[in-house]
Order: sequence, then structure tokens, then C-alpha cells
Amino acid sequence: MLKVDGLYKNYGSFRAVSDLSFHVEKGEVFGFVGSNGAGKSTTIRIAAGLLKATRGTIYVNGFDVSKEPSKAKRFIGYVPDFFGVYEDLKTTEYMNFYCGVHKVPVAQRREVIDNLLELVNLSDKKDFYVDALSRGMKQRLCLARALIHNPEILIMDEPASGLDPRARVEFRDIVKTLQNMGKTIIISSHILLELAEMCTTIGIIEKGVLVTKGTVSEIQKQLSHLSRLKLKVIGDMEIVINMLKEKPKVSDITKGHGYIECSFDGNDLEKAELLKELVNREVEVFHFEETAGNLESIFMHLTKEDEKNDD
Ligand SMILES: Nc1ncnc2c1ncn2[C@@H]1O[C@H](COP(=O)(O)OP(=O)(O)O)[C@@H](O)[C@H]1O
Ligand SMILES: [Mg+2]
Repeated sequence: MLKVDGLYKNYGSFRAVSDLSFHVEKGEVFGFVGSNGAGKSTTIRIAAGLLKATRGTIYVNGFDVSKEPSKAKRFIGYVPDFFGVYEDLKTTEYMNFYCGVHKVPVAQRREVIDNLLELVNLSDKKDFYVDALSRGMKQRLCLARALIHNPEILIMDEPASGLDPRARVEFRDIVKTLQNMGKTIIISSHILLELAEMCTTIGIIEKGVLVTKGTVSEIQKQLSHLSRLKLKVIGDMEIVINMLKEKPKVSDITKGHGYIECSFDGNDLEKAELLKELVNREVEVFHFEETAGNLESIFMHLTKEDEKNDD
């Protein structure tokens, strides 16, 4: 349905996307995950036909976005990561405007608009001014707009960011409905856990390169031996951090407020041995636990290079 093929994008001399290739099959809900600056929006904008690739291309239902952009665009609904300002425009007027853009015959518009607003749970906001809607509602209105031409593929750039928990649940329900309608859905996020439960597959991008792709359980299995440990100690944390650095199974050490976290590539016995060794070396450990689900530790592990540079 969507095929990214050897994609490169340079901004001047800066390479934002580098030899990126992956497939999204029909009916998949694909989570496109990566930290800020990884290249998600760049890739998505190229797919939506808003940006030109430096090299490589994206095929949408077989159409090359760079060679046949108008054909490719018909299959894509794009929900950007920002929402513009629409002064003095009501929800239905906004939708009507975009129906015009997509050349929906005037006689059909009312029905199209009513159906879409119902789908995104905004039927009771028809006469509200767009600018007065909450963030979650604007997000859903954007989604309704992206669906006007009934595209087979829906691409949403960071749709869940900045939503409160309730809006998030509502959003997830809508994704489920769209999935049941047979749409192919691509959702980007910088938070893996935000997507894990709604996606069928996940692709992790880091510095413009795809580091892994698979079903949530495949990714989990891939690195299931990896866990994240949290320690609290009395005394100098730096000394403990230096001890941890010597251990080959320990990686991605971070220092929080009064605690240390690290990734640990070993089984339970080895964790116990690590604790024993610290205690034997006179470290006063008063807290030692395995934190976050595996998914987040996998993400930390896969994206560690980036983290180091952000410090
Ligand atoms: N118009 C631009 N000009 C120069 N650099 C850009 C531009 N857009 C994005 N970048 C850079 O490209 C990289 C990827 O950006 P982006 O695709 O927005 O990442 P993401 O959406 O994953 O956060 C970042 O380092 C960003 O600073
Ligand atoms: Mg982005």
C-alpha cells in the first residue's frame, strides 16, 4: 500500500533521512516511532507530496509520489502535526471549505460533513468556532478533513502528542473504527508506549535510518533480554555510575534526581549478581528495581546514540 524505497532527504548539507526503506501493507496500523529530529515528519511530508525527496521515492498504491503526485495524493489523507488558525470560521464552514478544495459536489457536502463529524465525535460541535475547540477536538477535526476524499491511507503526524488522557482514549477509539473500515493507517510518535497498543506494526527510525520494524511482540521478543534497572544508593552516585560503566552488560546509564537508571542485558540471576557485587563493594543500595515495560527499554537502547548527543 505504501512503500518507502531508498529514501534520502538532505536539507542543505544536513542529511535528515538516509536510505530509508519500508513497506506498510493494506490494513496495517503502522507506528512510526523515533525521538525528536529522527526524520518522521520529513518522511511523512514526502509521502503526502508536500516535500521532494533528494533521492529515492515513496510509492503510494503503486504510484510514485514524485512522478505522479496527483494520482498518489488521491490515496492519502494527511493530518499534519500543527493546526492552523482559522478566525471566525465554524466547524461546518471549515469542513465545507475543504469539501470545496476536494471538489465534493455541493449537493453531497452536507451528508459528507455530517458523516465525518459523527465519525470523529464532533457532531455536537457543528456551530462552534474552530479556534474555540480544544486541542483534541481540533485534532479530530483535522482528521475529518483528511478523510473528505475517502483516502485509503491515513497518515497522522504526532496525533497523540499534547492530548490529555481522555482525548487520547477517544483518539484510540477512532483509530480502531478507521481500522475496521479497512483503512491503512500510519501514526508517528516520539513515545513508543503511546502507540504500542493501537498499532499492528512498529518501525523505529533514528537519525533518518530505520533501526527496526516488526509487530509489537516481534520487537519485544527481539530484545526481551534487555531490561531497565533503577537504583537508589546512599552516598556518591558518581562512584556507583563508574562501577556500572565497567560492567559489560550495563548500558545507557542515566542519572535522575536521587536515582540511577541503566539498561541491563542479562537474566534475573545476573541482576542479583550485579546487586550482590555492588553491596560487596560497599555501595549502600536501598532501592533496586526493574522499571518500565520492556518496550521503553528497547526504545532507549535503540535510540541511545541520539540521547548522548542531546545531553
Ligand atoms: N526545513 C528544514 N530545514 C533544515 N533542517 C530541517 C528542516 N526540517 C527538518 N529539519 C531537520 O531534519 C531533521 C529531521 O526533522 P523531522 O523530520 O522534523 O524529525 P521528526 O519529525 O522525527 O522530529 C531534524 O534534525 C530537523 O532539525
Ligand atoms: Mg515531527
